[in-house]
Amino acid sequence: MSASASGGPHAPKVLVFDSGLGGLTVLRELKRARPDLALIYAADDAAFPYGRLDDSALVERVGSVVGRLIADLQPNLVVIACNTASTLALPVLRARFPISFVGTVPAIKPACERSRSKRVSVLATPATVRRDYTQDLIREFAGDCRVTLVGSERLASLAEAALHGEPVADAAIATEIAPCFVDDGARTDTVVLACTHYPLLIERLKHLAPWPVEWIDPAPAIARRASSLLGAPGPAANLAVRALFTSGQAPSPALAHALAAFGVTAFDAALPAV
Ligand code: DGL
Repeated sequence: MSASASGGPHAPKVLVFDSGLGGLTVLRELKRARPDLALIYAADDAAFPYGRLDDSALVERVGSVVGRLIADLQPNLVVIACNTASTLALPVLRARFPISFVGTVPAIKPACERSRSKRVSVLATPATVRRDYTQDLIREFAGDCRVTLVGSERLASLAEAALHGEPVADAAIATEIAPCFVDDGARTDTVVLACTHYPLLIERLKHLAPWPVEWIDPAPAIARRASSLLGAPGPAANLAVRALFTSGQAPSPALAHALAAFGVTAFDAALPAV
């Protein structure tokens, strides 16, 4: 029997938010860890990609869209499944809205702990790469690792295209990841996926890497953090996940098919006036 996300009156309601489809990689882990939740996925695709917005425009955009979503949906918890937004806007969101937020920030600490060659690369949007937040993480946790920051202009858009069923050339992906692979006598052995879109392409990243590395996807850790804030799980409800897109565009058949693989089978109209 299928049920809609609003069908479980006692299921804690969790909003998973991203600029586009990348947050699905976090939603997937949360759904796996907590089948008792009513999950709603919201993509601010009208403003995608966030990686190209300037800082003040991004803070304003995230504040107003997330504010509308909180008012309309009344979630128990919000996951900002976007590094580009979290590394800048989380303090503002926490100050403005009296509910729990879980953010997504570059997993520099675990990467540097695990690296044996002491060469770690952080693959992110250009905006995440230049954030003070990211620089602070490196200062605090890099230890004796050399960290290479790689700001990719196109990889999030390529991941979107792939999920929309459009052809994405190997060469385009290979060009975006090439600067992650440093060989200065020791070779990069760990790459942090510091944009939630990138794990959507993980099999192709592995295939196109010039040598094998460990790819760090923070999604399981984010799901654990959200789960611990929500408290003990209730009985599994396995509710359908609802999604909404600020563009108001209904997903194409190819995208609807891809979304179904993440458990997203219901679509809401866009928020008015976003
Ligand atoms: N998924 C977002 C992140 O984790 C970024 C994509 C974008 O540029 O909008 O950073």
